[in-house]
Amino acid sequence: MKPRTLLLNALCICALAIALPSCVEDNVETQIMHYSPEEYATLQQTLNLPDERYDYTVTVNANNFGGTSIIPINNAKATLGRVLFYDKKLSHNNTVACASCHHQEAGFADNKAQSEGFNGGLTKRNSLALASVANFESSYGGGNTANFNQGAAFLWDERATSIIEQSKIAIEDNIEMGMDIDHLADKLAQEDYYRILFQKAYGSSEVTPDRITESIQEFLNAFVSNNSKFDKGLAVHFAAESHFTNFTQQENLGKNLFVIHCSNCHDPRMAGVLVATANNGLDLEYADQGRGVITGNSSDNGVFKVPMLRNIALTAPYMHDGRFETLEEVVEHYNSGIKAHPNLNFELRDFQTSQPKRLNLSNSEKQALVAFLRTLTDTEFAEDVRFSNPFDL
Ligand code: HEC
Ligand code: HEC
Repeated sequence: MKPRTLLLNALCICALAIALPSCVEDNVETQIMHYSPEEYATLQQTLNLPDERYDYTVTVNANNFGGTSIIPINNAKATLGRVLFYDKKLSHNNTVACASCHHQEAGFADNKAQSEGFNGGLTKRNSLALASVANFESSYGGGNTANFNQGAAFLWDERATSIIEQSKIAIEDNIEMGMDIDHLADKLAQEDYYRILFQKAYGSSEVTPDRITESIQEFLNAFVSNNSKFDKGLAVHFAAESHFTNFTQQENLGKNLFVIHCSNCHDPRMAGVLVATANNGLDLEYADQGRGVITGNSSDNGVFKVPMLRNIALTAPYMHDGRFETLEEVVEHYNSGIKAHPNLNFELRDFQTSQPKRLNLSNSEKQALVAFLRTLTDTEFAEDVRFSNPFDL
């Protein structure tokens, strides 16, 4: 511990003595130390956690007029969720954590087409970026409000309707983590640090499957990335269609092209997506039918989740199977490569002929589109210590 933290500790212990009655309830959190010195010493044997909990409260743009809303996050649950997210004990043989396939520096995606699971097996699909999970809203969701997870669906085939559900899928998946969740609860209950962290989050040290998935969800709900160059422009100019004074000419050109050609599916404000799922013409015959596997409807064959594009420059490779290495390849796909799959979304068809659209962009327009996509990178989010690995001692 650094001297300054020691001093703070001493101050905090005094503050604790005075403020004790009010810190019993979690919603009256004050800036006091949340662990007894013994508890903190125990945590420090395994974890690099701050003695004052991080504040995970998030602010999201709530509407098209620059309004904002605050999402309250329970900091004790988010702290527990952070530890769970990075803990390899969540997998059958202690080799893989959620973070093994969701790297912070990669916008919480993985830079491999397929990620490696606990037994060396490869995931069927490309890992998804996790920025702005809380305010990720699919088209059948409600308004983009603090009502997180309202209507949002997760995974490439949207088979999970909440992070609680999705986390259980990841933990029990026989390629990803291979762990029975009831067995996992018993396993985690053996660890002193979990006894403390569950106690702080839930008022008792009991480890249950529901508590595990709920606290992971609380942590992921705090993953709101809204400090990119694009966000800074949007905060001043309100509409994505406006000329952004903080953008170069090239970035503004790319933004215009995006608004015209892409934003009917990928939201122009990057607050969610406007079409939940679509076929974007990658192949004539899909090896993986995506949503079709879930619903059994042939009209869902080759249909996948429209992914969030925040931090997209960090999350290569691209598409559900990670087929494209670069954003240039992605743009070339939309420019000239769309296939006439029967389920191809109408947004990508020529209005008159119904054939796949050809954008016929010039080289400088293609480069501008890529330059715009790069303005969606939020380095503050990718480096935010609150989301970093607490096992890095
Ligand atoms: C072995 C690699 C691996 C591990 C471990 C893993 N994931 Fe994933 N994650 C993926 C892949 C691959 C996908 C996309 C899978 C799909 O859609 O079928 C994904 C998708 C997701 C999504 C969906 C995002 C969206 O926008 O729909 C969330 C959320 C997520 N993972 C969180 C977690 C959490 C929490 C854990 C730990 C409990 C975890 N993952 C463990 C590889 C992994
Ligand atoms: C019809 C709706 C639609 C339109 C219009 C559209 N996309 Fe997409 N986009 C999708 C879908 C669906 C996927 C995922 C497809 C898959 O993996 O099978 C996707 C994937 C992507 C990805 C990869 C994301 C990742 O995490 O791997 C990028 C980048 C992208 N689109 C950019 C664009 C750009 C740029 C445009 C405009 C030129 C555009 N999209 C137009 C539906 C659309």
